[in-house]
Amino acid sequence: MSLSNQLTNPIANQWQISPKDLFAQGKIVPVLVIKDVADALPIAEAILQSGIKVLEVTLRTPSALDVIKEIATHLPQAIIGAGTVTNAQMLQQARDAGAKFAISPGLTKDLLKAGQEGDIALIPGISSISELMDGIDYGYDHLKFFPAEASGGVKAIKSISGPFPDIKFCPTGGININNINEYLALPNVACCGGSWLVTDELVKNKNWAGITQLCNEALVQIK
Ligand code: 3PG
Repeated sequence: MSLSNQLTNPIANQWQISPKDLFAQGKIVPVLVIKDVADALPIAEAILQSGIKVLEVTLRTPSALDVIKEIATHLPQAIIGAGTVTNAQMLQQARDAGAKFAISPGLTKDLLKAGQEGDIALIPGISSISELMDGIDYGYDHLKFFPAEASGGVKAIKSISGPFPDIKFCPTGGININNINEYLALPNVACCGGSWLVTDELVKNKNWAGITQLCNEALVQIK
C-alpha cells in the first residue's frame, strides 16, 4: 500500500474543496489581517485583480468573521479561507461565516478531529516531525509549515521530503518576494503564504492599486 493510500481521509471527501485542489489554485496565498470591514472588499478586489484567487483572512481582529462574510457574499469568485484557526469553535465560526477552508498555525487533536468532521478543508500547521506524524495519523497530507523561516525554512522542508515524500506544504512566516522561489522550487511545496502583499501602510492610505501592484510583482517574480 502506498503512503498516499494510507493517508486517504474519507471525511475529506465531504470537504467543499479538497486541499489538493486548494493548493493548486495558485502559488501565492495572501495572509490578511483586516481591522475594518469597510476595507474587506477593496482589499479582496485588489488582490483578485492580479489573478490571485485564494485569500486567507486571519481570525486576529474582532471584525475578521464579518470580513470573511463580506467577501464570501459579494465576491463568490474568491476562494476565501480563515487563518489563525486554533480550535474547533473557531473552525465552526469560520465555516458559518462562509470560509471555504481554514488554516491553523499549529494542530491539536481536538482541532484535527473537528476538521475531519467538518465540511470545509482544514490545513493544520506543523513545525516538527512529531506534529507532522500527528497530522498524518488523522489523515492530513496537506499542511502549513509555520513559522517557515524561523523553523529551518527551505532546508527543513527539503529534509522532511525524505521520510515524508507525499506530504505537501504551504510554508508561511518570513516568506516574501526575495525568497519565495527557493521554497517553490521544492517538490513538496505547492504554494506559499505571506502578509507582504497587503501592508498596513497601503491599507491606511487606501492604496488599493498598490496592493494589486505588489501582487503583480510577486506573480512576475515566480514565473
Ligand atoms: C501568519 O500567519 O502570520 C503568516 O505566517 C504570515 O507571516 P508573514 O507575516 O511572515 O508573512
